[in-house]
Amino acid sequence: MTATAAPSATEIAVPLLDLKAQYATIRAEIEPILREVCESQYFIGGPKVEALEREVAAYCSTQFAVGCANGSDAILIALQALDIGAGDAVICPSYTFFATAGSIHRLGAKPVFVDCDPATYNICPESTRAAFRCHGAKVKAIVPVHLFGQAADLDTILGIAKEHGVPVIEDAAQAIGTEDAHGTRVGSRGVIGTFSFFPSKNLGGFGDGGIVTTNDAKLADRMRRLRNHGMEPKYYHDEVGLNSRLDALQAAILSVKLRHLDAWSAGRQKNAAYYDRRFAEAGATTSATPISAGGFALRTPHPAPKGSRHIYNQYVIRVPAAMRDRVRDALGKRKVGTEIYYPVPLHLQKCFASLGYREGTFPHSELAAKESIALPIYADLTPAQLDWVATSVIDAVRAG
Ligand SMILES: Cc1ncc(COP(=O)(O)O)c(C=O)c1O
Repeated sequence: MTATAAPSATEIAVPLLDLKAQYATIRAEIEPILREVCESQYFIGGPKVEALEREVAAYCSTQFAVGCANGSDAILIALQALDIGAGDAVICPSYTFFATAGSIHRLGAKPVFVDCDPATYNICPESTRAAFRCHGAKVKAIVPVHLFGQAADLDTILGIAKEHGVPVIEDAAQAIGTEDAHGTRVGSRGVIGTFSFFPSKNLGGFGDGGIVTTNDAKLADRMRRLRNHGMEPKYYHDEVGLNSRLDALQAAILSVKLRHLDAWSAGRQKNAAYYDRRFAEAGATTSATPISAGGFALRTPHPAPKGSRHIYNQYVIRVPAAMRDRVRDALGKRKVGTEIYYPVPLHLQKCFASLGYREGTFPHSELAAKESIALPIYADLTPAQLDWVATSVIDAVRAG
């Protein structure tokens, strides 16, 4: 590639995510909690898990929350609680993490993929309508994803679901605390919301964890049984569930971290605003303008609608597909961590080949998969690190 311009900012390593920096700020709160759980020797379920469930329900503005082992099981438990299984079809986006569709498939149901909106990367309502035209009454649910921490267009998706009489499960794995344009928290408008506490999430545990939210008491009860082998009372099983319990250590850690979540998400928003400004000054436009429209070859995340709250689990830029590897290499040489979310849209994954999708079926998802790059965005980034990332991205794009 062309040599990048001499760096104007100070060279400084910036990992994609630095959880050690976050831990340093909460160590004093976490260590006594870990000791308390160890002294109690109460490791699975119990008061710490119940407390977290109450706190997350309140945080997400729902009546109930049920902890489970991870965000993938959360989707699976939600689907099973809605009686979805073999022979059913479930609509979900193609441009998302694998678990959204993997959980549908694991229940014996068929994922019906739809394209993304090119500006927000979230589920495209038009494509969702087209999926209903194709698959009709077989469709038993829609699983929109609030990708990267930005709310999907729930008004439209809930409207489509209502027309067809199917429930919506919100995959909010990346979006705890995200609000839609009405200021409503995600995970509270669908019949069930599902969340992940994977360490890289805005609210991440020290291992795996997940939770489901709902306002339906019966569904909450059923999901509580399903996460524990479908057992109720002890050793009686009316249906087969999973072993997907949340452990007390994770719950205790997550309760501490939940107290910091709003500040961390605000830090991410501030960092995103900084990148937006730096990149706009260099000539970037938002992802609402396709790269093919020309101009400076960089697109920033499209702003979330007024009144909404984007929590920036990821800050994803776009560059021309032909340039992406060079830009990533240049950033890597300057010790700036990046990731591709996601290089292969789900409709083109080998494991779903039997579903019969071909390249070209979902052009927006396919293009996003070729053009996107995620940058470091966590709250603990220093001004010098932010400057280094922004300068390095602009240099790399200018070098082409
Ligand atoms: C959109 C989405 N759905 C589901 C999951 C699954 O969560 P977990 O990794 O906790 O199983 C993830 C995790 O990355 C995700 O990003």
